[in-house]
Amino acid sequence: MKLAGKKALITGGNSGIGLATARLFISEGAEVAITGRDQQTLDEAVAELGAKAHGYRADVTVAEDRKKLFAELAKDFGKLDIVFANAGISGRTPTGTTNEAIFENVVHTNLNGAFFTVNSAAPLMNDNGSIIFNGSVHNYLGQPGVAAYAATKGGLVSMARSIAADLALRKIRVNVVAPGSTKTPIWKRGGRANVTAEESAKVSDFFSSTVPLGRWGEPEDLAKAVLFLASDDSSYINAVELMVDGGLTGAPFGAAILRG
Ligand SMILES: NC(=O)c1ccc[n+]([C@@H]2O[C@H](COP(=O)([O-])OP(=O)(O)OC[C@H]3O[C@@H](n4cnc5c(N)ncnc54)[C@H](OP(=O)(O)O)[C@@H]3O)[C@@H](O)[C@H]2O)c1
Repeated sequence: MKLAGKKALITGGNSGIGLATARLFISEGAEVAITGRDQQTLDEAVAELGAKAHGYRADVTVAEDRKKLFAELAKDFGKLDIVFANAGISGRTPTGTTNEAIFENVVHTNLNGAFFTVNSAAPLMNDNGSIIFNGSVHNYLGQPGVAAYAATKGGLVSMARSIAADLALRKIRVNVVAPGSTKTPIWKRGGRANVTAEESAKVSDFFSSTVPLGRWGEPEDLAKAVLFLASDDSSYINAVELMVDGGLTGAPFGAAILRG
């Protein structure tokens, strides 16, 4: 068991990558607090995960929610060993037609929300702990229409380096896991809720063709990488961004679409 006796917080632990990570952490012996905004999926996740999971409804963008969350965690958990700042949203912000509210919501959730989660968690953390942010290949891709999202995911990487320096005296490691296209509900949220099965299959095939390994990531692929960064298996790894993208950013010419 790689996380026996460890206590972990996973924001956005009621869905996708966060939920898969909660499952894996618990199977490795951890006790896990999961958060999210949606009470129903939180309750369903806790019911599935069992007695070692605790659900807390908290919006990462709302200071009052964070205050209440960390007061409850101090009472229920005492200390934390692992924080996976995973909660995030996507959002289209094409240059020339984007209003400020949409841009700010992406930044507020993905960047401010992640920072202030860790800001509140730091005093509760044991020395030798591990913090992991959920980044993205969009730090590098230059894909159109996602300026805000890409900026937040790049920002997390530079932010993680600075926080790693802040927490170095306490030997708390701070890293970023950066997923490529991963099969989670994020692809069905917002404007994509009504896409047809045919359109969705087209998008799926296109993205597979951009990946040297020829497929999408599964949430479990990411969970295994987060477990690695959370556990002593990565005891000398600090302030890095670990790409978990099937080679999309490192070897793009290995992908079917560029091999010809
Ligand atoms: N899937 C991909 O292709 C992909 C690729 C690169 C990076 N990522 C990153 O991976 C992370 C997890 O996403 P996912 O793919 O697993 O998508 P997901 O299934 O949609 O999960 C997103 C999670 O974030 C939570 N969340 C969103 N806004 C929140 C807020 N304001 N306060 C609290 N929780 C909030 C959601 O909870 P509620 O539903 O309860 O609000 C949900 O649990 C995100 O940071 C995303 O940017 C995903």
